Amino acid sequence: MAGRAPTYRVITFGCQMNDHDAEVMAGMLESLGYQQVEDSAEADVILVNTCCVRETAENKILGLLGRLARLKKGRQKPIIGVAGCMVQQPGMAQKIKNRFPEVDLIIGTYNLHRLPELLLAVQECRERIVEVWEEAGEVVENLPVRRASRIRAWVNITYGCNNFCTYCIVPYVRGRERSRRPEDILREIRQLAEEGYREVTLLGQNVNSYGRDLGGEINFARLLKEVNGITGLWRIRFTTSHPRDFTQELIDTVARCERVCEHIHLPVQAGSDRILALMNRGYSRAYYLELVERIRRAIPGVSITTDIMVGFPGETEEDFAQTMDLVERVQFDAAFTFVYNPRPGTRAATFPDQVPEDVKSRRIQELIARQNEITLARNRSFIGRLEEVLVEGESKTNPEKLSGRTRTNRLVIFSGPRELAGKLVRVTITGAKLTHLEGELALEGR
Ligand code: SAH
Ligand code: SF4
Ligand code: F3S
Repeated sequence: MAGRAPTYRVITFGCQMNDHDAEVMAGMLESLGYQQVEDSAEADVILVNTCCVRETAENKILGLLGRLARLKKGRQKPIIGVAGCMVQQPGMAQKIKNRFPEVDLIIGTYNLHRLPELLLAVQECRERIVEVWEEAGEVVENLPVRRASRIRAWVNITYGCNNFCTYCIVPYVRGRERSRRPEDILREIRQLAEEGYREVTLLGQNVNSYGRDLGGEINFARLLKEVNGITGLWRIRFTTSHPRDFTQELIDTVARCERVCEHIHLPVQAGSDRILALMNRGYSRAYYLELVERIRRAIPGVSITTDIMVGFPGETEEDFAQTMDLVERVQFDAAFTFVYNPRPGTRAATFPDQVPEDVKSRRIQELIARQNEITLARNRSFIGRLEEVLVEGESKTNPEKLSGRTRTNRLVIFSGPRELAGKLVRVTITGAKLTHLEGELALEGR
């Protein structure tokens, strides 16, 4: 390896929390002197940060590991590491170890901070290492981070989840909910603002329950108020919100705090009370509809997005019709839609009346078709409006153009000079697609 810096690549799957963990992995590797490369074939170390929320994610990852394994026969002979949620499942680390002799390191979600030591150990002893803890320790602060963007940053506020929705594997692989101390969160965000970051997204599986384990002095609404007071920051976002814990205090706080964006991701999961109860979601359809009303009344122009699942065990045609009816009533700005997939170890995996695949597939198609119409109609309603856009840089799909987001989190594609990256501009919306808006630069802002 003499003569050049060692190289790495981190490939990540799953949610934003995993995206941010990948940034921490990258940060730790860079503090060891590694440099990032885009191509696995060029990397000395490849880390795969896994997700297991659905089987499709797992299958993709197993396929990828198979392809990466072949690189071991090539010139580079990279060290291959597997991290993330998948390896926290009982027996999975061993299974990966046996199936892929090319994998050198397996590291769990609770001991991620040990990556540098474990990697050095792999290099020194040329032995395979599996280190997966059963439980989380104290929250580890001050790990190095190599952020993907210089404009928008992810900031964890909680780790883990206590909700145990019956379909969900996250509480089993991420452990009980742990809140970071407010002073640690605020210090990190002040630092980001000083470095020129303009937007932060506060992350947790259920941000609304922030602070419950910290003795009652602080809650999410109060934290949000504190973050709103940080100068230099332009936009604050947060995800994910659990409807059950979305308090009136929080609604009022979002409404009052000028830096907090008008976008709430509020996963509903299902529209039938019977299914919501079986899911252990802790709210009813009527409660959810009323909550949406209160949010819309308090926060003008708010965009509400959601996650919806079809084919939960026991879901009848009537239950599904209730979901479709809820989608109709709420008119979500956008929705992530999923087919229920039984996850080993979760309660719902043992429930009777699992829904046949063909029924699930018909229901998801119907749901997607209707929601797409609604999303498009809502996007079209922006045509002709002047929107404030935080410019991210070149559009990923068309490098000739710029892309950025509105406060309501809509992607906007428009023409303009690259130097606008990181600036707030005004864009007149001229077109609307399912995934984004098109516009013309009206005014160059600050
Ligand atoms: N903490 C977030 C969601 C985390 S998982 C919340 O509570 O909303 C992201 C989404 O994946 C969930 O909202 C759910 O819609 C979906 N999901 C979770 N487990 C699933 C499963 N077993 N099958 C299909 N979709 C699932
Ligand atoms: Fe999973 Fe429910 Fe926790 Fe979200 S709130 S991570 S869906 S258990
Ligand atoms: Fe997947 Fe883990 Fe997130 S299971 S959705 S990466 S918390």
